[in-house]
Amino acid sequence: MCGIIGILGKSDVAPLIVQGLKRLEYRGYDSAGVATISKGNLDRRRAPGKIAALEALLEVRPLSGALGIGHTRWATHGAANETNAHPHATRRVALVHNGIIENFAELRRELIDKGYNFESETDTEVVAQLITYYLEAENMSAKEAFHAALKRVRGAFALAVLFIGEDDLLMGARRGSPLAIGRGDGEMFLGSDAYALAPFTNRVTYLDEGDWTVLTRHSIEIFDASGARVKRPETISSAADQMVDKDGHRHFMSKEIHEQPEVIAHTLSRYLDPATETVGLPKGAFDFASMDRLTISACGTAYYAGLISKYWFESWAGLPVEIDVASELRYRNVPYTKGGGALFVSQSGETADTLAALREARAHGQKIAAVVNVPESSIAREADVIFPMAAGPEIGVASTKAFTCQLTALACVAIAAARARGRIDEAEERRLVRALLEVPRLVAETLKHGAAIEEIAREIAKARDVLYIGRGVNFPLAMEGALKLKEISYIHAEGYAAGELKHGPIALIDKALPVIVIAPHDALYEKTISNMHEVMARGGKALLISDHEGVKTAGDGLWASIEVPTVEPMLAPIVYAAPIQMLAYYTATTKGTDVDQPRNLAKSVTVE
Ligand code: F6R
Repeated sequence: MCGIIGILGKSDVAPLIVQGLKRLEYRGYDSAGVATISKGNLDRRRAPGKIAALEALLEVRPLSGALGIGHTRWATHGAANETNAHPHATRRVALVHNGIIENFAELRRELIDKGYNFESETDTEVVAQLITYYLEAENMSAKEAFHAALKRVRGAFALAVLFIGEDDLLMGARRGSPLAIGRGDGEMFLGSDAYALAPFTNRVTYLDEGDWTVLTRHSIEIFDASGARVKRPETISSAADQMVDKDGHRHFMSKEIHEQPEVIAHTLSRYLDPATETVGLPKGAFDFASMDRLTISACGTAYYAGLISKYWFESWAGLPVEIDVASELRYRNVPYTKGGGALFVSQSGETADTLAALREARAHGQKIAAVVNVPESSIAREADVIFPMAAGPEIGVASTKAFTCQLTALACVAIAAARARGRIDEAEERRLVRALLEVPRLVAETLKHGAAIEEIAREIAKARDVLYIGRGVNFPLAMEGALKLKEISYIHAEGYAAGELKHGPIALIDKALPVIVIAPHDALYEKTISNMHEVMARGGKALLISDHEGVKTAGDGLWASIEVPTVEPMLAPIVYAAPIQMLAYYTATTKGTDVDQPRNLAKSVTVE
């Protein structure tokens, strides 16, 4: 999604703004721009495409000025061209925006009637024109005009605004989309996240929901939505330590796939005591023992992690689970129970639908827990209890290590829930803890198959469509495999419960259709293998992902196989995720697509 940088600096800021924007690239975008104020005058450069295009423009036509804002835009209203790129400017202000202004059409009509002209198709420009109206027609000060405009706009957004004629003034607002203030030495910064601010300062203040701020080089004023002056704590961010290089890998996605043994181990260390072989949960108001139902919700890959955990909560803890994607759950009339809990899964902690579903569940009296990767995120702040996942920053748009860390955290939580509910005894807890402790090593072994998987991917890259099938805990993994492939290789793929094949999708099978069969040698193995043979009998190309026993007993006629180490069957998705991710990765590199920033996708989806 869009990224915002604002700098009140000591010398020309355009190069620093570009540096900050590069750190926001991972969020996904399709145009970029910078505006600066120099001796009271505004100038701006905007370019469709990657930041490199903006840099090329700035080389030919540099921008001076020690105050500026910059933006990476992920198009929502209007095509990704120069006119729609931010910053948007009027004769009085320049502004960048992340999110959506829901009532922009109504405001735009109102302003056109008042004689204001619009140059872009964006919802953003309406905010710039509205502030201009309050400055000019109502003769308000910059601060009054900004607050008046904020009171009129509806939606979820973050904003940064420059005022023409003001060399020492930068304003920002946060409603629904994150925004952080960075304090330097006689300098001030605004950014969409602490990573973007990391090269400049580690002194970071996060705005709360509804807050807006007025910054000069030496002062920070923060106001809540009502306009009352408020204080927000300054934190020392560790984002600088965590950042961000490819560590010798061609892509962040490859680096992040290979980090999994380590980050899964880190996540386990937050929950497991290897000496006693027990699981412990963070303290908080989430009482699994008395809970009558758990509602789980998330989007995309995080939803598939939640769906796998449904199998764990049900079979280990005997806990009824309701699960839905957040964009549906938030609008359904869910009959929440009085003693229910709701669990939200999100890497970024900023996904608009997940946050809205969380608020809906809270409004219905549910206790709220969240599995999140970014501890300062909106979802983390609004949850009653956070179940941490120590994935570290995930830069590749396609989620990999966050997925397996979400699964790891959820497995630990489900085991603890099972103990709290008296559904497993101490011996079973110890057995499961031992199995979990083996997972990082098993993932590391699986990652050694890269070269063989790359070979297979060369064939997959020729396909137009691909099917993934699995049963039980591996059914959601089949859907995750299909999502990974389509996201980064642009090949159409679907994930199905293997038993559903003959209820429709089997009609698709022909010699050109690879079918990827996820089938560890577990209680459902034979059933899945029968489905695989139905595929092969119709000329389909079956790729089996299984363990030694599974590959050995699968019979003849396989197109290819990938052998994964034997793992406790319920935990298989954490280990089998690795070949699934590598298959998508190598298919995409074979096709030469933009692996880390696939077309049309954003890392953090802060609009509905
Ligand atoms: C897919 C992917 C997305 C995210 C989804 C939720 O590779 O990354 O499907 O999983 O947008 O994002 P978070 O986890 O940040 O809420």
